[in-house]
Amino acid sequence: MRSRVSESILGRVIGGTGMLLETTGWLDESFERVSVISRDQLKVRGLVENHKSDFTFYEINYRDTEKLTNILKQILTRAPIDYVIAWIHSGKAPEALPTVLNEVEQNQHRSFRLFHVKGSAHAIKKETVLVPANCLYREVILGFQYDGTNSRWLTHSEISKGVIAAIQEDAESTTIGVLSPWEKRPS
Ligand SMILES: NC(=O)c1ccc[n+]([C@@H]2O[C@H](COP(=O)([O-])OP(=O)(O)OC[C@H]3O[C@@H](n4cnc5c(N)ncnc54)[C@H](OP(=O)(O)O)[C@@H]3O)[C@@H](O)[C@H]2O)c1
Repeated sequence: MRSRVSESILGRVIGGTGMLLETTGWLDESFERVSVISRDQLKVRGLVENHKSDFTFYEINYRDTEKLTNILKQILTRAPIDYVIAWIHSGKAPEALPTVLNEVEQNQHRSFRLFHVKGSAHAIKKETVLVPANCLYREVILGFQYDGTNSRWLTHSEISKGVIAAIQEDAESTTIGVLSPWEKRPS
């Protein structure tokens, strides 16, 4: 990964306090400036108190589109964004990701990468995400582990490490674990 000292890499993580907490910690070590959006600052208390990057936590519910829009405007006024890592339940918050993409499109010309983390079922449906011209879209699909006999869902650490690898490799599409045989997925 690039050196934190020699380059200014600015990352924003939406939903980075749960299974992506390890990814958020790595971003803090690797990037110059990191912002996290989710509802509970206590979940990232370690980083809030002891961060390496210029770290900001925005405690908001991403279903509140007006508040999300205002926060994004505030973030984009401070500095342009290079990376957005988004773990958003689109069924519960259909406006959240379009709001993020729209705000970045409206407020910066420079290109940015969206690492869109998707659950297995969401990925299987193959929904198209409309992204602005300055967005390099990267999907990270959560699969499951299958050894030919038994299957299980991914652990948080496997998910976080997979997202880190996707960012490092800059792959357009990454599947963590497997998606087939689909009928062997854990119940
Ligand atoms: N293989 C698969 O397809 C798949 C798919 C999904 C989940 N899973 C598994 O399911 C488990 C938990 O999944 P989870 O979705 O609960 O993930 P999680 O990563 O534990 O939590 C969701 C993240 O999004 C944030 N968030 C949720 N709702 C929000 C809202 N309205 N506004 C702002 N931020 C919000 C949460 O922070 P706050 O709570 O602080 O807001 C947290 O950072 C994991 O163990 C994962 O392995 C697997």
